[in-house]
Amino acid sequence: MLISGAKLLQKAHKEGYAVGAFNINNMEMAQAIFEAADKMSSPIIVQASEGAIKYAGGTMLHAIVKNLSEKYPHIPVALNLDHGTTLESCVHAIRCGFTSVMIDASHHPFEENLATTKEVVRIAHAADVGVEAELGRLMGIEDNISVDEKSASLVDPDEAEQFVKASGVDYLAPAIGTSHGAFKFKGEPKLEFELLKEVKRRTGVPLVLHGASAIPEEVRAAFEGTGGDLKGSKGVPANFLKEAIAGGINKVNTDTDLRIAFMAEVRRVANEKPSEIDPRKFFIPAREAVVKLICERMETLGSAGRI
Ligand code: G3H
Ligand code: 13P
Ligand code: ZN
Repeated sequence: MLISGAKLLQKAHKEGYAVGAFNINNMEMAQAIFEAADKMSSPIIVQASEGAIKYAGGTMLHAIVKNLSEKYPHIPVALNLDHGTTLESCVHAIRCGFTSVMIDASHHPFEENLATTKEVVRIAHAADVGVEAELGRLMGIEDNISVDEKSASLVDPDEAEQFVKASGVDYLAPAIGTSHGAFKFKGEPKLEFELLKEVKRRTGVPLVLHGASAIPEEVRAAFEGTGGDLKGSKGVPANFLKEAIAGGINKVNTDTDLRIAFMAEVRRVANEKPSEIDPRKFFIPAREAVVKLICERMETLGSAGRI
């Protein structure tokens, strides 16, 4: 059942687990997410970036998710706009039928971020759509970043408290040291767990971890085994994900892991069968690899068995 992101995450927040928010650009990824949810009896958030909407169309992505939600009516699912950059982008997603929107105005000054977020909340709530916002800037805490740069990029708990109260936002993504993509840490992985707990204590809302791909060793090896290059890649270890959930994270965003798992299989088939021309022969094993990865992730997040 397609429901509001706020409703979906309130249950996770109360019971202390996290729902995986998995990115899609096409039908195969959406099918894989629902198949994993069905296997693991897990709620899910399916999300599409502005780039995904540009690629496939917002109404198309909504139609795919709506169709799958009718095929699996027992699965609670929210469809989220990932990193909406403007009010107009959020309104477009709401018109397409999305049940959650992220307004990412975190790169703007605090007051501007707050004003835009408030307006998104006003419109979204009238349509029973949940709203996510971000505070701080997502960037890896790398060895060559100065202390000043590092603290400037992290969430400020005072601001977080004030922002949540004043905006009425349903869930908040605090920057605690992750970054998007396959190269998250130069040295040892490090996240600001104490800061996360402080933000949870001060805001009392479900929190979101962006840039949460783990780059599991077997998935990286499968990709590199086909001649792919992910040298120097490093994700958020599974035990960090668990610690983040214990600290108040209830939504865990994952795109890169899905991309690597999918493309490793596409590459393998291309290498093994150079004359294969049927896209389905690539996409069927690729989709299965994504199902396997998501099933394992649902165990880590504690969302398995929650429906
Ligand atoms: O947060 C970013 C997501 O991985 C989406 O990436 O803008 O390439 O669709 P994208
Ligand atoms: P990853 O790049 O770690 O998968 O993060 C995805 C994300 O945060 C989408 O919003
Ligand atoms: Zn993100």
